Amino acid sequence: MKKKVVVFGSFVVDLTGRPPRLPIPGETVMGSSFAMGPGGKGSNQAVAAHRAGADITLVTKVGRDVFGTVATDFYKKEGMDTSYVFEDEKKETGCALISVDENTAQNEIVVISGACGNITSEDVERSRSLIESAGILLLQLEINFDALCKVVEIAHGAGVTIVLNPAPAAQLPDDVLRRIDIVTPNETEAQVLTGVKIENQADAERAAKVFMDKGVKEVVITLGSLGAFAMNQEKSELVKRLSVEAIDTTGAGDAFNGGFVMALAEGKDLFTALRYGNVTGALSVTKLGTAPSMPLREDIDAMYEKAYG
Ligand code: RIB
Repeated sequence: MKKKVVVFGSFVVDLTGRPPRLPIPGETVMGSSFAMGPGGKGSNQAVAAHRAGADITLVTKVGRDVFGTVATDFYKKEGMDTSYVFEDEKKETGCALISVDENTAQNEIVVISGACGNITSEDVERSRSLIESAGILLLQLEINFDALCKVVEIAHGAGVTIVLNPAPAAQLPDDVLRRIDIVTPNETEAQVLTGVKIENQADAERAAKVFMDKGVKEVVITLGSLGAFAMNQEKSELVKRLSVEAIDTTGAGDAFNGGFVMALAEGKDLFTALRYGNVTGALSVTKLGTAPSMPLREDIDAMYEKAYG
């Protein structure tokens, strides 16, 4: 039976422009197109897991404004539960200013968290029974830290498997890390949290050991062009990156996390789930946007079969 997944995280509206190259500080570059759409790491990961076939509920917060309706309209269209999309009376819905290089597909992002940086203890209490009923809880670092700590405490107390995607990169106290079951940083985030600069598999192993010494049970590190690495008490493995034609890499990490938790929720082991994450991330970069670029399960299964079947 599938485990229930709860994603507790950010929704922001992505405002994306596409210039021929990313500007240097102080420079203005003319862009060719603009798009506005649903984003935020928490929401993107929830959408990715939902489209991949997971039973998910997202807890997030928006403002009472037009951007807030971007969230609820999108979730309704996707057939996602909106009961835990809280509204802030005063704070505006968050937004992200994104530039995507038309030639390299690389991006630059500034996030203003808005309402999802103002999740109150009442909001967390209203979500308590949902969190306690989850099989897997997926978190990121775009909500306010006090809310994150409280959510971790509730989930840990209830024996829920906690997956933390520590993005955007930030320091975390050991007291939080020791309650995390699986951590899924990219190489930069892993360096911030462990102090290990990662350039190859041996570095990834060293960083993973630092996490495990702090009490994290299993570690996944995404390594860009090198692929993705996973380690638990029994073994470690580097799985190569899948080659696709990338047009927008924004949200690839979110797609990875969504596909990864979907597979865990279906009872797959860490290394199989890593491959599902890889496929979901690879498919997402072949389309523009973040949440709208998340692939459907049939496409994930087809690529999984081709790559690893
Ligand atoms: O990971 C990509 C996401 O980061 C974007 O959707 C943007 O909203 C930022 O939160």
